[in-house]
Amino acid sequence: GEAPPPAEAWWREPAQRKRLLALAAEATPRYVYHLPTVRRQARELKSLAAVDRLHYAVKANTHPAILRALAQEGFAFECVSPGELAAVAAAVPESAPLLFTPNFAARADFERGLATRATVTLDALYPIEHWGELFRGREISLRVDLGRGLGHHEKVRTGGSGSKFGLPVEQLDAFLRHADAHGVAVRGLHAHLGSGILDPGHWGEVYGQLAALAERIGSVAFLNIGGGLGVPSHPGEARLDLAALDAVLRKVKAAYPHYALWMEPGRYLVADAGVLLARVTQTKGKGGWRYLGVDTGMNSLIRPALYDAWHEIANLTRLDEPATGLFQVVGPICESGDVLGSDRRLPEPREGDVMLIAQTGAYGKVMSSPYNLRGETEEVVLDD
Ligand code: LLP
Repeated sequence: GEAPPPAEAWWREPAQRKRLLALAAEATPRYVYHLPTVRRQARELKSLAAVDRLHYAVKANTHPAILRALAQEGFAFECVSPGELAAVAAAVPESAPLLFTPNFAARADFERGLATRATVTLDALYPIEHWGELFRGREISLRVDLGRGLGHHEKVRTGGSGSKFGLPVEQLDAFLRHADAHGVAVRGLHAHLGSGILDPGHWGEVYGQLAALAERIGSVAFLNIGGGLGVPSHPGEARLDLAALDAVLRKVKAAYPHYALWMEPGRYLVADAGVLLARVTQTKGKGGWRYLGVDTGMNSLIRPALYDAWHEIANLTRLDEPATGLFQVVGPICESGDVLGSDRRLPEPREGDVMLIAQTGAYGKVMSSPYNLRGETEEVVLDD
């Protein structure tokens, strides 16, 4: 069953809804981003007193207006590819600190990362063993695998057995020997266990484990405890308790006070700021199901198909009308998995109605594809 969405969703305000309907009248499908919501989320995270530096994990949404808004809020940036480094360089001032945290990167990717001002993170023995001279004299960060993963879906857990991320702790001594031989200083330790985590205790454990490793290494100055801060997606799900998170972090920091604490959230900053607008194309009744077709699908938003992710869907044209049935909201892509939402209680749809798919500011447009050559999904930015 579907409980009502959180009352604070910006797109429910009548003035915003009117703007969105006007934008959809120009063209659909479209992603629309609400910058005041990005800023609100940024300020919430800045209230974490225990955190010394916040990086925005650019992969969640690379729109330049979002990068600029977060730079203005004082955020640093975490990038995973030369392309992301270039996107940040184009959008934000030189002064914003950068982290380059690639996984299974080619030697050429490291060369490009090292040519920027970014702090470069290694997460395997191979680069230091085979390309050690690249890193000679540099200060680097090292991502370790703490032996477990967390997250909203198996596919977004990035730690533990079966995950390709991080240096296993058993290889730390070998890594340090190679680093030493090349005059490389391990200045930071990093762990990111997964995405969509709502338990605040987790990051405290990560800090404690990294700090214990750092004590062994000696040269470490910062501990990057990753991102992964979740936002509730299902109705009725509790929000991440930031006050509890801060309390947990202050406690572990008191035990190991000599390290700077860094984080790198993506989703938390941008998920709620984005909506996807699409229009009703057709309806169909078949085998007891009612299908509501819209003019985009898994090509614009792959999260439901890939992770069974739940996104609220509303008929923006008929927001105040009562629901008349349960619908499968589907796109035009030639795959059975092209379902944006199942069993959605919605008002009686009419061709041309504007449908809104909520909470699509994170991992929406950036994961879209040209599949079926439906064309690129446009992005529009709203500010007050
Ligand atoms: N740091 C590292 C090293 C990461 O790999 C990620 C995300 C983040 C930070 C940011 O995580 P966040 O705060 O956004 O949870 N496409 C999936 C999520 C994949 C996340 C990949 N790594 C989804 O749509 O749920």
